[in-house]
Amino acid sequence: MDTQDIKNRFGIIGNSPLLNRAIDVARQVAPTDISVLITGESGSGKEVFSHIIHQLSSRKHGPFIAVNCGAIPEGTIDSELFGHEKGSFTGAHEARKGYFEVVNGGTIFLDEVGELPLGTQARLLRILETGEYIRVGSSKVQKTNVRVVAATNVDIYNAVQKGKFREDLYYRLNTVPLRTPALRDRKEDIHLLFRKFIADFTDKYRSPNVQLTADAQQLLANYPWPGNVRQLKNIAEQIAVLEKERLIDAQILQQYLPYDNRSNLPVHVTSKGTDDFSERDLLYKVLFDMKKDMVELKKLVVEIVQNGVNSRIMEDNSPYINQLYREVDNTTPEQLATPPQLTIHRPPTSGPSEDFHFHTQEAEEVEEESLSLVEKESDLIRKALKKHKGKRKSAAQELGISERTLYRKIKDLNLN
Ligand SMILES: Nc1ncnc2c1ncn2[C@@H]1O[C@H](COP(=O)(O)OP(=O)(O)OP(=O)(O)O)[C@@H](O)[C@H]1O
Ligand SMILES: [Mg+2]
Repeated sequence: MDTQDIKNRFGIIGNSPLLNRAIDVARQVAPTDISVLITGESGSGKEVFSHIIHQLSSRKHGPFIAVNCGAIPEGTIDSELFGHEKGSFTGAHEARKGYFEVVNGGTIFLDEVGELPLGTQARLLRILETGEYIRVGSSKVQKTNVRVVAATNVDIYNAVQKGKFREDLYYRLNTVPLRTPALRDRKEDIHLLFRKFIADFTDKYRSPNVQLTADAQQLLANYPWPGNVRQLKNIAEQIAVLEKERLIDAQILQQYLPYDNRSNLPVHVTSKGTDDFSERDLLYKVLFDMKKDMVELKKLVVEIVQNGVNSRIMEDNSPYINQLYREVDNTTPEQLATPPQLTIHRPPTSGPSEDFHFHTQEAEEVEEESLSLVEKESDLIRKALKKHKGKRKSAAQELGISERTLYRKIKDLNLN
């Protein structure tokens, strides 16, 4: 069977040298019983290759099981893989065969093999070297004849260096390494794959065919595809189902490509750039509105501090403030109003524009005054002490605090 036959049979799309090389390795190693370690990013076809290896081997009529080592809890993985005896742990009501026993004569695909705990790694090494294993809770050595194809999408050699993966097992599994190339390393295949997937999905959903403009093709080729073929397939499906436009340009395509920050590639600059601008305009508008609200609120706070709540509400009856009160709670301004604390000195206001000037000016004046609580507090304490000629008891009384608190504050605020 040549490379093209394998592609046809297993639905592999692409002509890049890296892909052809991976298929070559699979074809050559398949008829042997050698363990294979498939490495490659998520969605790059590791599982597809494990099937190719099994199907092109003499075990093709035997069983094939794919086990995701990362998905099985650490406490049960030995039992899942190697089986257990009745009563070997709480809940082991029956004896159970493990996958290595069930798959005798076939192939086991150990996906995410880097996730295996160290104890399980030792058991796996023994099976690979001698075909021997022991069920959990048993002392009887059993034999099995299983071909192991393992896969990982992490840098497993890094795990070896950190002591998380046994070095001897790594070399044993990695007798023949097979690397599934990332999509971004075979850009020439991307459009081909996209067309194939679009054809499949438009067929499936009975939607009209989709074409890409030249700039969309370029965007497709330059996107980093962190989820590789699986991601490309998903996006083709979304477009086939959701997109109304049948001639897709880069701007439309961009909406389907999630932003990926590990690359400088996916940002697409259109000649018109209308979308970018409207989004930026919107943000500016939001910020501008917020600033306007802030100015209004500042004015209001300053006014209340200066004149007391009553003055501002009763005299001015500004719709803005009344609305604010209604928004804050349903209490009416009249209910909230308290007698003015300070004498009101306000120039007469005749119209809204003058009113506005007056408030901004006032706001500016007051902003220059310090609003620091510490300073205000020190100030008040000094005044109270002066008024009571240094008598702390009376000063504390006037300030509405205990004498002890006043002592502490004098000390803390360094008022001696
Ligand atoms: N060269 C290819 N041509 C066509 N389809 C492919 C190709 N490679 C992968 N696929 C498809 O992409 C999808 C993902 O492939 P697969 O499940 O083998 O990836 P994986 O490397 O095992 O991913 P993960 O690490 O997430 O488990 C599958 O639907 C598979 O059929
Ligand atoms: Mg997989």
